[in-house]
Amino acid sequence: MRESKGDEIVGGIVDLASDRTFEGIHSTAPMPLVPWVLGNLDLTRTRSVFDLGCGIGRFALPVASLIAPNDGEVHGIDLDPRAVEEFNRRAHNAGLRAEATQGNILAKAAIPNARFDMVMLNFVLHTLSFPRIKQFLGTVSALVAPDGQLLVTAYGENHISEPTTWLTEALISAGLNQPEARRVTRQLDRPRRFSIDDGTRLLRRHFDHLEFTQFRDVFELSPYDLEDMVGPRLLHAPRLSPHLPDGVDPRNVAATFREIMASHSNNGHVELNADIAMFVARSPRRGPWPWI
Ligand SMILES: C[S@@+](CC[C@H](N)C(=O)[O-])C[C@H]1O[C@@H](n2cnc3c(N)ncnc32)[C@H](O)[C@@H]1O
Repeated sequence: MRESKGDEIVGGIVDLASDRTFEGIHSTAPMPLVPWVLGNLDLTRTRSVFDLGCGIGRFALPVASLIAPNDGEVHGIDLDPRAVEEFNRRAHNAGLRAEATQGNILAKAAIPNARFDMVMLNFVLHTLSFPRIKQFLGTVSALVAPDGQLLVTAYGENHISEPTTWLTEALISAGLNQPEARRVTRQLDRPRRFSIDDGTRLLRRHFDHLEFTQFRDVFELSPYDLEDMVGPRLLHAPRLSPHLPDGVDPRNVAATFREIMASHSNNGHVELNADIAMFVARSPRRGPWPWI
C-alpha cells in the first residue's frame, strides 16, 4: 500500500475520523487532486465563494487560504451536520474566513439571494438524481456573478471501471453470453448517475464558456483492498444470485473474478484508472431567478 499524503484530503470519499480517502491513499498521481484543481483556477480577483456540498472543506478551506490576500471568504453548505461541524472546527483552527452551515442544497431556503465570484460543486452532482440536477444547475448558474465562475469536479463513466469489466468476463466464463453478462453487471453496478460525460451538455444550457480538464491518475491497491471495496456490491452471493441463470453458482463467479483480478496484478498490486475531471464554467446565461 502506498503512503498516505499526510494531512491532505485528496479523494472523493471523505473519512472524517482519519482525514484519509480511498483516492488519497491509493493515488499515484504526481500531484494530489485538490492542489491540481486549484492550480487550474484563476482566483486572483475572487473574493466571495459558495461551496455547495462542501463536506469537511477539502476544497473550500484551501480556497479560503488562497483568497485570504483578497480579503475573500468562503461559505459552504452541507447536509451532513458532522461534516459542517468539522469544517467549522478546521476553519477556526486555521484562522480562515470560511464558514459552513447545515442545509439541503436542493431546498430553496438554503440558496442565498446573492451572487458569488466562484461557486463550487465538487463531487456532489453524482449524489443527486438526474431530473433534479437539470433544474438545480439553473439555480446554481444564477448564483454565479456575471464575471464569476462555476467549478464542477466529477467522476466519469470509466472511473475505476476495471472491476465491472472483470465481473462481465467472469460471468461470460460462467456461461452467460455477452449481452446477458453486461446486463447483469449493469444491474449490480450503481444506478446511472451524473458523470463528467454529462457535464458539457448540462452546463452548456446555462453558461456560454466551458473549460474541461482531465485529471490523470492510476490507483494502486492490493487485491484484498479491491475486494473489500467492490465485493459487497459485485460479488456477494445474495447480490449476485437473483441475477444469475439457474445452475450458475455465484461462488464460482466470485472465484473466477478473483483469478482475473490476480492475472491483472503486478508486484502484489492492482492498478485502476481514475476518470476524474474538472469543468470551469463562465459567462452565465441570465434568465429569471429560477426560484421566483
Ligand atoms: C463526496 S462528498 C464531497 C464533499 C466535498 N465537496 C469534497 O469534494 O470533498 C459529497 C457531499 O455532498 C453532500 N450532499 C449530498 N447531497 C446533498 C444535499 N442535498 N444538500 C447538501 N449537501 C449534500 C454530502 O453530505 C457530502 O458531504
